[in-house]
Amino acid sequence: MTSNEIRQRFLNFFAKRGHAVLPSASLVPENDPTVLFNTAGMQPLVPYLLGQKHPQGNRLVDAQKCIRTGDIDDVGDNRHLTFFEMLGNWSLGDYFKKEAINWSYEFLTSKEEGLGLDPSRLYVTVFKGENGIPRDDESIKIWQEVFGAHDLSHEVAGEDEFVNKNIRVIPLGTDDNFWIAGAIGPCGGDTEIFYDTRPEDGELSGKFGDLVDSFRLIEIWNNVFMEFNKTAEGKYEKLVSQNVDTGMGLERTTAVINGKNTVFETDLFIPILNKIDEFAVSSDDQSKRAKFIVADHIKAAVFMIADGVIPANTDQGYVLRRLLRRAVRFGDQLKLTPGALSSIADVVIEMYEESYPNLKAQDEYIKKEIKKEEQKFWETLSDGFHEYHKLLLKNQNIFDGEIAYTLFTSYGFPFEVALDIVKEEGVKISEDTSDVFSALMKKHQDLSRAGAEKKFKGGLADTSEMSVRYHTATHLLNEALHRVLGEHVTQKGSNITPERMRFDFAHSQKMTDEEKKKAEDLVNEKIAEGLEVSFAELPKEEALKTNARHNFGEKYGDIVKVYTIKNKDGEIFSQEFCGGPHVQNTSELGKFKIVKEEAVSAGVRRIKAVLE
Ligand code: SER
Repeated sequence: MTSNEIRQRFLNFFAKRGHAVLPSASLVPENDPTVLFNTAGMQPLVPYLLGQKHPQGNRLVDAQKCIRTGDIDDVGDNRHLTFFEMLGNWSLGDYFKKEAINWSYEFLTSKEEGLGLDPSRLYVTVFKGENGIPRDDESIKIWQEVFGAHDLSHEVAGEDEFVNKNIRVIPLGTDDNFWIAGAIGPCGGDTEIFYDTRPEDGELSGKFGDLVDSFRLIEIWNNVFMEFNKTAEGKYEKLVSQNVDTGMGLERTTAVINGKNTVFETDLFIPILNKIDEFAVSSDDQSKRAKFIVADHIKAAVFMIADGVIPANTDQGYVLRRLLRRAVRFGDQLKLTPGALSSIADVVIEMYEESYPNLKAQDEYIKKEIKKEEQKFWETLSDGFHEYHKLLLKNQNIFDGEIAYTLFTSYGFPFEVALDIVKEEGVKISEDTSDVFSALMKKHQDLSRAGAEKKFKGGLADTSEMSVRYHTATHLLNEALHRVLGEHVTQKGSNITPERMRFDFAHSQKMTDEEKKKAEDLVNEKIAEGLEVSFAELPKEEALKTNARHNFGEKYGDIVKVYTIKNKDGEIFSQEFCGGPHVQNTSELGKFKIVKEEAVSAGVRRIKAVLE
């Protein structure tokens, strides 16, 4: 079964059961300053899981684009990817465990509507109860009924977590079966569904964890029963409604149901790898990993650029830069010709054309950004090369781990490339080079990890008041820029933290001081007028008939929210497609100040602004 078919079957199955099909939200969270990218399907839905009404109703289904970079160094093994799609069905206070579990079973096993998996190869884990939350006996009972009704064994594993042909339900603790996206936010116990990938190895028998570690059992779907909100004080408060959040990784599922050992053997990667082979010279085992890395990273980069991310030294832009530079480095190992990366990007754009039309709509732009970063990286490398000779001279012509570290951290000069050059030049290499380099890198990573954790400690649900104010200020600024500079000023991105806002837009020159002042004054005027901010939920066709600003090429749901700010005389000042939230009245914003206007790339400018 192709990945497109799996995605479509999933959406259809739940649509038929009353779920509204949502388009994927952008990879970059719109209103959540606490994470750089959506890392799970539930992230864009957090406000609704916390109780806000969703315009499309309380049964939803989607395929959400996600980025996870926590395991970036593991990409290239069987399973780790930075970009993936998560299929999910959602109940916002509607159905709960019984329907969710029954539908999961039906979707996985139905040949007509689902994936047609062999039911006797399914095993499930459930929450065994911890931290004052009781064991999920209800889910256990439902699973036993489902399996029983299909004449499958359904005994429950004991504390020893031992599984055999009679035992199909395994209760596990918080680490395995309690789901939360960050430190705080909506959460709950879950039930995870595993598939026996190697029945040919004989009857399944052993400790559950060992069967998972040996990849005999592979997790294919997670059903989270979200009933709590974990507060900053560590308390689990009951949510206003009981929700269901499910997540099925499309890549892994495609591999498993087609009997493949790795996601790279599926149609989600084969065309990309074939393209890489056209350019690559070597094909030993070492280069296999390099190919996987290039394929994964270019795919992630294409999706990020399409969602408005530009290579930079901070935040989302830094992640993109890192992925592209890794792609160049590993591409270099494969001796890819310069420019090969944008041809590989072409294949990605083509593969996903139908599901994600915003790729094709921007294909020239995407390829240009990739080429530019590739070139910049080669320039960086040549700067590093000069420095390398200087450092070497200072060190009595001995290359060591400290030099490698300086080259890497200050010039992005890869360790492997440095070693190659040193060897070619016949320079003496200190014996502990690799150890010293690794130790310094580890220290460096621990420091930056500590920094990142500090930055994101707010967790997911932190839509602080300041962020909401900045969000409304973003709408005012967007409109003000259109009025001051002209209609070409389309929004290219925005980013909000509780301290400031950033707004990227298409404009080819530096703004003059006068233009900046005009835009700033206009925003402050609208704040001083105390205008009401309202929204309406409209069918997409109707919303498109208004002049509300929206992103060209983006897919919207059948019902969209349109936010409007009207002047006192009733004339519309600003109107945009947007999920919210916003303040109720512009008078809540305070004084608006542009602190910086700069270029981010050719034809794109960035404004940083604060509310005082
Ligand atoms: N939030 C859960 C996960 O990411 C289910 O979607 O696994």
